[in-house]
Amino acid sequence: MSKKIAIVTGGSRGLGRNMALKLAASGVDVILTYQHQRDSAEAVVAEIETLGGRAAAMALDVGDSQQFPAFAAAVKEVLAGQWQRQTFDFLVNNAGAGVHAAFADTTEDQFDQLMRIHLKGPFFLTQNLLPLMADHGRILNVSSGLTRFALPGYSAYAAMKGAVEVLTRYQAKELGSRGITVNTLAPGAIETDFGGGAVRDNPALNQFVAAQTALGRAGLPDDIGQVVAALLSDGCGWVNAQRIEASGGMFL
Ligand SMILES: NC(=O)c1ccc[n+]([C@@H]2O[C@H](COP(=O)([O-])OP(=O)(O)OC[C@H]3O[C@@H](n4cnc5c(N)ncnc54)[C@H](OP(=O)(O)O)[C@@H]3O)[C@@H](O)[C@H]2O)c1
Repeated sequence: MSKKIAIVTGGSRGLGRNMALKLAASGVDVILTYQHQRDSAEAVVAEIETLGGRAAAMALDVGDSQQFPAFAAAVKEVLAGQWQRQTFDFLVNNAGAGVHAAFADTTEDQFDQLMRIHLKGPFFLTQNLLPLMADHGRILNVSSGLTRFALPGYSAYAAMKGAVEVLTRYQAKELGSRGITVNTLAPGAIETDFGGGAVRDNPALNQFVAAQTALGRAGLPDDIGQVVAALLSDGCGWVNAQRIEASGGMFL
C-alpha cells in the first residue's frame, strides 16, 4: 500500500515542524508550508528525507484566501510530480501567529488579522483542498487551551480558535459521508517562537505555566508532534468531531 501524505501548514518551525517530523517518523510523507522562512522549511524537508521519507515545502500565507486556488493547483502538481498521486490523505491546519492585546485595547486591524489567519484561512483553505483529499482522509484543526480557560490578552485570538472548534464539528458532520474525520487539537502553552517565544524565553511565564500544569512543566514541541502522529494513525480512525487537548493538564 502506498504511504499516506499529510499537508501540514506552518511546518517550517515550532509545532508544525515537529508534527512533520513525527509524521515522517511514523511513515507518513509530508507537504509542509511556510510563510517567510523557506530555508527552515527546506531544512525540515531534508531532515525528513534523511529519515527515509519524502517531503515538499510550499509557500502559503494562510491569512490571504486569494492565494488558495493557486495553492491547491500547485499541490495538485506536486502530488502528481513527486508522488504520482491525485490525492493527499491528511490536512493539519496548524499555521498561525498570535496577537497579545487586552480586550479593551484590541484594534479592528488586530481582530481582522487574527480572523483571517485563524478562522477564514482554515475554513477556505480546507474548502479549496477538499477535491484533492482522499476519501477516508483526516483533518486536524489546531486550536488552543485558551478556548477552555481564559488568560488576559487573548480575547480575539481565543475567539477565533473557539470558532474553529465549532467549525470542526460542522465539517465532521458534512464530510462524514466521504469517510473523512475532523478533529480539533488544542495544545496548552508550548515552548516555541509563538508570541515572541514568551513561554520558552520568559522564566516567570514558564514557571507560571509549569505551576498551573498537572505534569509540572510547560509543553515542548515533541509533546504535540507525537499526538498528531497518533491521531493520524490507523488506530484513531473512529475518533471524530472531538476536541482533544494536549496540555499536560493545564488549569484543571
Ligand atoms: N505555542 C503555543 O503555546 C501554542 C498553544 C496553543 C496553540 N498554538 C497554535 O499552534 C499553531 C502553531 O504555533 P507555533 O507555536 O508552532 O508557532 P511558531 O513557532 O511561531 O510557528 C508558526 C508557523 O506558522 C507559520 N505561519 C505563521 N503565520 C502564517 C501565515 N499567516 N500564513 C502561513 N504560515 C504562517 C510560520 O511560518 P514561517 O516560519 O515561514 O514564518 C511557522 O511555520 C498556531 O495555530 C498556534 O495558534 C500554539
